[in-house]
Amino acid sequence: MKISTLVTAACVAFQGTAAAVVSGKPSTFIRDYDKRDLLQDVVTWDEHSLFIHGKRAMIFSGEVHPWRLPVPSLWLDLFEKIKALGYNTVSFYVDWNLLEGKQGEFRADGVFAYEPFFEAATKAGIWLIARPGPYINAEVAAGGLPGWLQRIKGMIRTNADDYMEATELYVASIGAIIAKAQITNGGPVILYQPENEYSGGIPPAVFPDAPYFQRVIDQVRKAGIVVPLINNDAWSGGHNAPGTGLGEVDIYAHDNYPIGFDCSDPTVWPANGLRTDQYSTRVEISPNTPYTIPEFQGGAFSPWGGWPIDKCAELVNQEAERVLYKNNYAAGISIMNLYMTYGGLNWGNLGHYGGFSTYDYGAAIKADRTITREKYSEAKLQAQFLKASPDYLTAVPTNLSTTLYTDNVNLAVTPVIGSEAPSSFYIVRHNIYNSTETTTYRLNIATSAGKLTVPRLGGKLTLNGRDSKVHVTDYNVGGTTLLYSTAEVFTWKKFDSGKVLILYGGPEELHEASIVSTAKPTIIEGKGVTTKSIDGNVVLQWKTSASRSIVKIGDLSVYILDRNSAYNYWVPDLADGSAVIVKAGYLVRTAATKGNTLQLTGDFNATTPFEVIGAPKSAKKLTINGQPVAIETSKSTGSWHGLVKYQRPFINIPDLERLQWKSTDALPEIQTSYADSAWPSADKKTSTNTYRNLTTPTSLYSSDYGFHYGYLIYRGHFVATGQETTITIYTQGRNAYGTSAWLNGVDLGSNAGDAIVGDTNTTYTLGKLSKGKKYVLTMLMDNMGYDGNWVIGSDSMKNPNGILHYEFAGRKQSDITWKLTGNLGGEDYVDKTRGPLNEGGLFPERQGWHQQKPPTNGWKASKPTTGISKAGVAFYTAELDLHIPKGWDVPLSFTFKKTKSNEKFRAQLYVNGYQFGKYINNIGPQVDFSVPQGILNYQGSNTVALTLWAQQPSGAKLEGLSLTAGTPVLTALENVELVPMPKYAKRAGAY
Ligand code: GAL
Repeated sequence: MKISTLVTAACVAFQGTAAAVVSGKPSTFIRDYDKRDLLQDVVTWDEHSLFIHGKRAMIFSGEVHPWRLPVPSLWLDLFEKIKALGYNTVSFYVDWNLLEGKQGEFRADGVFAYEPFFEAATKAGIWLIARPGPYINAEVAAGGLPGWLQRIKGMIRTNADDYMEATELYVASIGAIIAKAQITNGGPVILYQPENEYSGGIPPAVFPDAPYFQRVIDQVRKAGIVVPLINNDAWSGGHNAPGTGLGEVDIYAHDNYPIGFDCSDPTVWPANGLRTDQYSTRVEISPNTPYTIPEFQGGAFSPWGGWPIDKCAELVNQEAERVLYKNNYAAGISIMNLYMTYGGLNWGNLGHYGGFSTYDYGAAIKADRTITREKYSEAKLQAQFLKASPDYLTAVPTNLSTTLYTDNVNLAVTPVIGSEAPSSFYIVRHNIYNSTETTTYRLNIATSAGKLTVPRLGGKLTLNGRDSKVHVTDYNVGGTTLLYSTAEVFTWKKFDSGKVLILYGGPEELHEASIVSTAKPTIIEGKGVTTKSIDGNVVLQWKTSASRSIVKIGDLSVYILDRNSAYNYWVPDLADGSAVIVKAGYLVRTAATKGNTLQLTGDFNATTPFEVIGAPKSAKKLTINGQPVAIETSKSTGSWHGLVKYQRPFINIPDLERLQWKSTDALPEIQTSYADSAWPSADKKTSTNTYRNLTTPTSLYSSDYGFHYGYLIYRGHFVATGQETTITIYTQGRNAYGTSAWLNGVDLGSNAGDAIVGDTNTTYTLGKLSKGKKYVLTMLMDNMGYDGNWVIGSDSMKNPNGILHYEFAGRKQSDITWKLTGNLGGEDYVDKTRGPLNEGGLFPERQGWHQQKPPTNGWKASKPTTGISKAGVAFYTAELDLHIPKGWDVPLSFTFKKTKSNEKFRAQLYVNGYQFGKYINNIGPQVDFSVPQGILNYQGSNTVALTLWAQQPSGAKLEGLSLTAGTPVLTALENVELVPMPKYAKRAGAY
């Protein structure tokens, strides 16, 4: 359906109301926003926020890529961990490259299916923002574009017909899948982003090209998408903003990564990294849409040869979350998605060449799904605060000032002032945002009781370095007014038994809160809080301490915590829209009531005393993870108290070096007896590749033969004349790639790669060859993937890999005839279960030996720590039995031990047929390869396979390989199902 047809259909469907919607406007002219209104009325917006089913909503969202955790039964775990933070939304990219490996064959089933992702989101109560590209960037190979696009003539991401036609099937298919899951159909999807960072272009492309973008939008509408469309401008460039006409989206949005991607020294936040013009720019660009950042920095990625990923978690740590996210609130953001919230894993060659096998991203949730980073807890404090603060949504940012609101010019304050509701929010940070100074101040605020300077009971407030605070005024706590609080609000709830407000502060800070009430305050727990009644207010002042205080004022109990204690509080929703507050430990997932029982689910990594605040009146009993738990009711607070015992289970982790490893040669191609008659001939005399002109008699670009990912092997045949001296070969495989070459089995040398070198010209000296004798030059090459296509007009995605050029000294180029292979079948890939990118072109991969139960009869007993004694590739496989007790979530990873000297070798790790790691000993940095449960069978047998490629004449062996287990977590997570994992079966046509 074209958009015009859709509008007509909608007009017909809405005949009764349509007149009202368009009344006052000429009937023949329907403006764009009217058209959109007619598409649906479930997700609407104004300049402040979205409305969902007519109700204003703060969209607090985390980015998750389901395909970076290819175990559908674990998606609920992620959604619950994100929901527990107080977020209500997850944003996801779709990687086209995984779904249309062969042009015209769209496949989204098994681990690549989206329906289970949508179901899990619905179950957890999470909305979704769909961002399926076609172009996504996302640190994936080719930015998500399938390899076969290298062969089209038209420019990528332009209005060229062949490019647009190439996207048709994908957009129609994924669009239809997502369309079904829209909120208008009862599903979780509320917003849709049809292109990504359409922000920069160069000639010969037309940029920006409104007709192109409109065509993209039309495709999406035709696929049935009716929810609002957003874009993701790479900065506030105003591209495709509403009001720009053709090609405009519904809600303008841009991304922002203020502290960048250099994690080498995580204490360094770039000078002037923080934007202060966000609100004004947004008002200029798109005054009628909610302020939207579809990607705000939630971590960073690390390149080959870069830093261990934990350093990126340190760079974008809890302090960064405080300073950077709160700066967004100072700009009135109401749709904020944190990229990434769970990064996951670049399994099976899906990652880009600028990164390695983990895409952990230093995110709030680690790639192994654990939540021990402090930034997870900090994110919870902020998201729960906004969830409890609906008045924030209509509050309006005013100008930042370093003089008006405090007595210290080193501080910058942005008041976000209540418009439709009285609550205001004063956001304080250091003027030099990355300052590490501790600064004291008094705060000037305007309240319903007039202008005040606080603290009123004396003393000074403190802002520590790399911190930012939201000081609220006239804040509505369920009908009680918090006139102001210098301590931050975590949450508040109105329970049957009274109201609870939780405030927290950083270590050793002085805080003051003023509650409009004439009641006499009673301190029911703790000491150290001073109370004083001033002008119909109860003013509380205290210095933050690790022990809790509770002050009761009328029906309001104010819980006063330090930040570290606040981390242990959770606010799971109940089905009726209410919630309970639970103080526990590692994770509280869900709460429900059944009869007289309150049912909680959660995870525990230690013996945990817990407390339930505000259990519904009807509830008399408690279960945790289905087990009845003894509770005592506190006389002073009415809360329930109990204990969950944790007894660390014995986890038997097999010693990998003691497995029954079997090994075989993985590179028979270098033997003179090897016949490559079944291989594709590299005989194309022309290439359609528009990026690079051929300089060889036949194309040796791997993409011309459908080989895009994983190892490539070339075989060049010639009959010697005796005149040849050298062959110089120019290869490209991108950052950290490597090559090795042999002539009739004789090692010509290897290029072991470099973190930032993507192409090399290598001259091989051939020695004296025998006249009339047949020779084969065999070259193995690691192929790290294609470029993205960020700059429109660069067509950088089409830059090919493989052998790009060669010179044959003493002979003609055409004296060599070439064969090549990559993964068996190329674009007609064999393994439909694990998708088009998972396997490469090594002999054992082509045979399928990396899967379970390979035919090891006749293979020798040898392990990877024994290795091989010359350049070449060995294949290893072993059975690994696991007996992890059920009910425990135990993160497992394979750990390679780096050699003392810089031995040159690289390895690929396969687990039950899925490639879960590329280890490069001489480049690094990754040594730990997390493999999720579901890929690993935790209660049964697994097949581990390894390819070991020695890129030095002395051969190579692993220094060590072990399975490492993290802290076992007693978990509510159930039914982690094994993904489909076809066993080895003889492959037809395997050569
Ligand atoms: C953004 C892009 C994302 C991702 C991110 C960095 O510019 O939209 O796809 O590449 O940068 O992680």
